[in-house]
Amino acid sequence: MSATSNRPDAQLIAALEAADYHPLWTRYKQITPIKPAAKDTPRLWPWRDFAPFAERAAKEVPIEDIERRAIILTHPAFGGATTTTANLIAAFTILEPGDHAVPHRHTTAAIRFATHAEGAVTIVNGRRCEMQPGDLVLTPPMCWHGHINEGTRRTYWFDAANIPLICGLDANFFEPGSRSDEQFWKVDEGDERLYAASGLQVASDAVQPAPLQSGKYHYPGVATRAMLDALPRTADGERSLRYTNPQTGGPVMATLDCQATRLARGAATRARRATHNAIALVVSGEGCSTVGDQRFEWQQDDVFTIPHWTWASHQARSPEADLFIVSDRPVFEALDLLRIEREA
Ligand SMILES: [Fe+2]
Repeated sequence: MSATSNRPDAQLIAALEAADYHPLWTRYKQITPIKPAAKDTPRLWPWRDFAPFAERAAKEVPIEDIERRAIILTHPAFGGATTTTANLIAAFTILEPGDHAVPHRHTTAAIRFATHAEGAVTIVNGRRCEMQPGDLVLTPPMCWHGHINEGTRRTYWFDAANIPLICGLDANFFEPGSRSDEQFWKVDEGDERLYAASGLQVASDAVQPAPLQSGKYHYPGVATRAMLDALPRTADGERSLRYTNPQTGGPVMATLDCQATRLARGAATRARRATHNAIALVVSGEGCSTVGDQRFEWQQDDVFTIPHWTWASHQARSPEADLFIVSDRPVFEALDLLRIEREA
């Protein structure tokens, strides 16, 4: 017997439902919840648990048989879907010396953050981006990209992308490149040189709309660390900077935002919650985070999630610790849904 069967309007409701109508008055609490409620709990993926799988994948899966040797961190709350936290995936890509990951492009937005990638190169739209420690490389929507390990050691980097969001909108287009396209790899830095100097950009009289994605694809880690060194600490010891589109000062892409945060030992950051989702990679150091009702002890290369509308606070246990945080914040900004609260 349904919950509505004793109501005076039960017959009307049944008739409406049979004719593919839903009365709002029986389901408004369900379709207009009073606040967001993330499906997923905060979760930590320690590198030490992941490393044996990466080792096996490198040995057991030839790159020639697959598009990418990437392993995605998935949360069981999404019922088997390949999702790390709402709208986002995080992964690590593993390349053996000489491996080429075939070029392709797609409408999903992605980033790479070099953790142990010395010798690896990502090529984005004809620009060669060498992956030094802490480098961020953007692969914005519909930019051709491919990867190669030119070094003598296995490489790893952290990936994030908004595949769940774009698939939820059914807006993914994917174009494979050619494995035999040797010209793809024969490029130099190219137009990335136009974005090498912070605070300078090409002058133009052309009146054009602000681009939604950064023209700069490669954000060297050495520059990020130098700026974190120079930043004054806030009262809770945090130093944070945002990677920006140099042409607008806005986020690096229409759907992804990236931030670097340095924490100081002994000081927990003021708890914060936001309507967007975030994934944190531990770049260096050790520390702990309280996310919702969970407490994570973390160290270098660990990854953890901060699901939307979940309180989060972070603290270094080493003298300093650096986090790289990727989020879907621009989506919420564009839809006028961004809300951020800080604990008093
Ligand atoms: Fe891709």
